[in-house]
Amino acid sequence: MGCVVFAGEAGGVGKSTLAVGVASVWAAAGREVLLVDMDPRHAATRLLQSEPDPALTAALLADVWAEIDDDPLDDSELEHDAVVAASAVPNLALAAGHPSLSQLARLRELERDPDAAFDTLAQLLDRWGAADRYDAVVIDTPGRLDVELAVGLVAADAVVVPTGAALTDLQSLTNAYSFIVEGREVGWLPPSSPVEGIDLVVPTRLTEGSVVARQVRAQLREHGWPVGPTIANRVAIQEASFAAMPAPLADPDSRASQELGEVAAAVSAILEGGS
Ligand SMILES: Nc1ncnc2c1ncn2[C@@H]1O[C@H](COP(=O)(O)OP(=O)(O)OP(=O)(O)O)[C@@H](O)[C@H]1O
Ligand SMILES: [Mg+2]
Repeated sequence: MGCVVFAGEAGGVGKSTLAVGVASVWAAAGREVLLVDMDPRHAATRLLQSEPDPALTAALLADVWAEIDDDPLDDSELEHDAVVAASAVPNLALAAGHPSLSQLARLRELERDPDAAFDTLAQLLDRWGAADRYDAVVIDTPGRLDVELAVGLVAADAVVVPTGAALTDLQSLTNAYSFIVEGREVGWLPPSSPVEGIDLVVPTRLTEGSVVARQVRAQLREHGWPVGPTIANRVAIQEASFAAMPAPLADPDSRASQELGEVAAAVSAILEGGS
């Protein structure tokens, strides 16, 4: 089906909740899904009840380490099974996040060819035959426009950005869009990438039925953003997060799960339309 990255510079708007929620909805429907947690704070890994693991960092930086140490590249660190493990959710495999992912930016600066510095996850997914092995790949990224996101974008077919009701969230959308456009101009996002901008904006944490919720959606449309289904502020999501469980599995009949299902369907349509 393809690879979707959940992105944005706004913190705490629900990127990880959406990434894990959408991945869980697909997995529950019988799809084989891989979630890649690119966030050093590894919230998605926690929601899947898995432990943080430095294996993803090791694989993403294997070439840099080899160059620094003047050692041959250790291929075994790049293997699928060295990085990916089953999660608590059936059909959902996880490349766990780890605090060491924050080294990505610093170490990538040592790369001789900066344009090539960001294609490491794309290369790993190729190496693993992810397109055949998985029906979908979901990438979660930290709340900043930095190297983890760039690495995710190069591997992705589509970009989803959750947004809240704050005025700064609108600016954050523009900043995320500019980051992508600049990536294409500068060249780290290669011409072969299908990513051209933001494919879906998901308003999150809005108060259901409120005037401000309507205003946020109207304003997003006015600015020309591709507005998707809304995720209201839901106690069920907070409870699921507290229990370290993906919301769609904690209570499949809740309104939160329905909304996450709607987002999953919207993302499926984008990925299927693009392939
Ligand atoms: N729709 C929602 N309703 C209620 N609580 C929510 C909702 N979405 C997210 N939350 C809660 O808000 C907190 C932040 O959510 P989440 O970790 O998904 O955001 P994030 O954008 O990934 O944050 P970060 O930028 O730190 O990575 C979590 O405790 C989560 O349970
Ligand atoms: Mg997060």
